[in-house]
Amino acid sequence: MQQHPDPKDPARRNFFAEGASVVIGGVISLVPVVAGARVLLDPLRRKSKAGAATRVTSLDALPPDGVPRKFPVIATRTDAWNKSTAPIGAVYLRRSPEGVVTALNVVCPHAGCFVDYVAEKSSYLCPCHNSTFKPDGAVSDAKSPSARALDSLEVEVRGGKEIWVKFQNFRAGHAEKIPCT
Ligand code: FES
Repeated sequence: MQQHPDPKDPARRNFFAEGASVVIGGVISLVPVVAGARVLLDPLRRKSKAGAATRVTSLDALPPDGVPRKFPVIATRTDAWNKSTAPIGAVYLRRSPEGVVTALNVVCPHAGCFVDYVAEKSSYLCPCHNSTFKPDGAVSDAKSPSARALDSLEVEVRGGKEIWVKFQNFRAGHAEKIPCT
């Protein structure tokens, strides 16, 4: 006849108690290891996102008169363990009397020179081959060597007072806006 083990057997109870303490002890010892690994690898988790918007200036710095003003775009970059800032380009921002903010890349789409805004002529002028553009960025002369308007950029006013731009360069010499990668 088969004998069933006595559930009150002290040896059996000890076996399960020891097994449970080994499992619980293992889980507890993993907690500081996982926490330490997270701290060690934290910079790797915080890499800057490509195509993210960058804060350019405050809304107060842009009078609502529709006149373009030039601002540098300075991005914060995070590599494995360092955080640094560096200029990545520049934009012309305009704020209309109605409060609409627009952004244009300062790079001429013809061959990549930087355009200047000439307030007396209410026009952008490219010093390299004389392309001219209206304040909204449109080509103003049919004989302009630039095949397209100045490149508009996504702009957002956050919290009603901070201007953020999704900065992007586009390939020169094309009629279409082709993002540089
Ligand atoms: S680069 Fe601007 S007109 Fe040629």
